[in-house]
Amino acid sequence: MTTKPIESLRSQRWFAADDFRAFGHRQRAQQMGLRREEFMGRPVVAILNTWSDLSPCHAHLRERGEAVKRGVLQAGGFPFELPAMSLGEVLVKPTTMIYRNFLAMEAEELLRSLPVDGAVLLGGCDKTTPGLVMGALSMDIPAIFVPAGPMLNDRYKGNRVGAGTHSRKYWDEYQAGNIDKAEWTRLEQRMTRAPGTCNTMGTASTMTNIVEAMGLSLPGAAAIPAMDSGNARMASASGARMVEMIREDLKPSQIVTKAAVMNGVAAYLALGGSTNAAIHLIAMAGRAGIPLTLDELDEMARKVPVLVNLFPSGDKLMEDFYYAGGLPALLKKIKTHLHLSAMTVTGKTLAENIADARCEDDEVIRDVANAVSTKGALAVLRGNLAPNGAVVKPSAFGAKFFKHRGRALVFDSNAQMHAAMRDPNIDADENTVLVLRNAGPVGAPGMPEWGNLPIPQKLLKQGVRDMVRLSDARMSGTHYGACVLHISPEAAIGGPLALVRTGDMIELDIEARKLHLDVAHEELKRRKAEWKPRDAQYERGYVRLYQQHVTQADRGCDLDFLEGNAKTPEPVIY
Ligand code: FES
Repeated sequence: MTTKPIESLRSQRWFAADDFRAFGHRQRAQQMGLRREEFMGRPVVAILNTWSDLSPCHAHLRERGEAVKRGVLQAGGFPFELPAMSLGEVLVKPTTMIYRNFLAMEAEELLRSLPVDGAVLLGGCDKTTPGLVMGALSMDIPAIFVPAGPMLNDRYKGNRVGAGTHSRKYWDEYQAGNIDKAEWTRLEQRMTRAPGTCNTMGTASTMTNIVEAMGLSLPGAAAIPAMDSGNARMASASGARMVEMIREDLKPSQIVTKAAVMNGVAAYLALGGSTNAAIHLIAMAGRAGIPLTLDELDEMARKVPVLVNLFPSGDKLMEDFYYAGGLPALLKKIKTHLHLSAMTVTGKTLAENIADARCEDDEVIRDVANAVSTKGALAVLRGNLAPNGAVVKPSAFGAKFFKHRGRALVFDSNAQMHAAMRDPNIDADENTVLVLRNAGPVGAPGMPEWGNLPIPQKLLKQGVRDMVRLSDARMSGTHYGACVLHISPEAAIGGPLALVRTGDMIELDIEARKLHLDVAHEELKRRKAEWKPRDAQYERGYVRLYQQHVTQADRGCDLDFLEGNAKTPEPVIY
């Protein structure tokens, strides 16, 4: 490995020259109480921190930022912390998905506009991971991802309960009258017992593990619980490693190759990860200039079984995954599906990183012969209702609905749908196909996690707990059920979903990968001629920009002008 000379580091453009501008840069650094030798002639490391007081999953990241600084200083670098948009999944409205691209832009431009040689990315709640990684890929200076880590396991009445998954489960019971108000209020204090990301295999853990599998985090980092002292040690080690990476000039473009992306895909599927990963993987790969299609994901999903026994596909939680050996142990079990020569942030190959990995609990990380599910964590459906694709999660999808034909009950908005669910006279039975539209990237906007439509209260009281639900929305990775998601193109831009009417018959066949609206082609043409787009909802601001430029789910929902790996020039310093 060659060592990059200090004088060729990016930060030296700001600090080293004997000119008027560099004088000002050094002067202002010293204004902050820094001695010249603290920042001169050293690798400069930015710590992009998504901590905020309103981001419970990242509540501990201020301390982790300090741990990173320790590591950077100990390795001879100069660290400084930059706050970046904090996207706490639950509190940010209308949906964090709108702001994933905002964070990606912010990360890229923070790194570009400041004297930075490398970046340590602190995130973990769902969109922060792909957002930070997308920005770092576009900037392409050395970068390492430090996951916030999952919250601790919790128990309720003797059972493991997981964030998200059990909220919906108990909500259904509350709606059905099986849980009283006092118990429901007690549940508010359970399931989220400590800072950290959701402890099920929801989107957060799916994404942090994918990013680790792609080679962008230290081995084993993603599984370490947020409140484990190992999480702070991992943060410090990441800071120290970043200084070495700068010296080695090891950039994301050398790590995130097609092979690394496919390692991320294999890990996602074996984890039984969130369907949201399909969008984020395509978007991250796109920033590296690597095409990744839904068909490639489907092809891998037919080969890679779900091995990780975590909610919502299984019955364990992230703390169990950590004790079992975390991602390195899983990767060892699926190594025939991996590109083991892929480079990683350690400066070693994936094969070298996992050579000593060992599974400590085969019930949590199963063997292939004892897989949690062989149905796959993802299936991509196509047909006249989703010409560009729709996704389902077979491993968390009610088996009796794998092949289904039912009458559509259509809702044009989330508010209309929720009102109908409370209607005691709703015209629906357990075979009805609930359809929600105008919930896609442009339509909602931001493609919120509305895809797990609630079951009508009338049917909950009859004991119904699952129904086929279709939408152009996403679904929380912590949820489960017979939900067909990400229908593309979405209704708001005139996709076929806009043409469905209540009473139409819809056919679903997961094995055959088919989603069909049983309406004659001529009739659909007639409906399309009558269809009119809704008025734009946003006249100004970032969301207006988002609506004008966001791509569809099959392309990763990035902003079209941010896709690809074309280089943006370095800022002029004068
Ligand atoms: Fe932050 Fe689930 S709400 S990870």
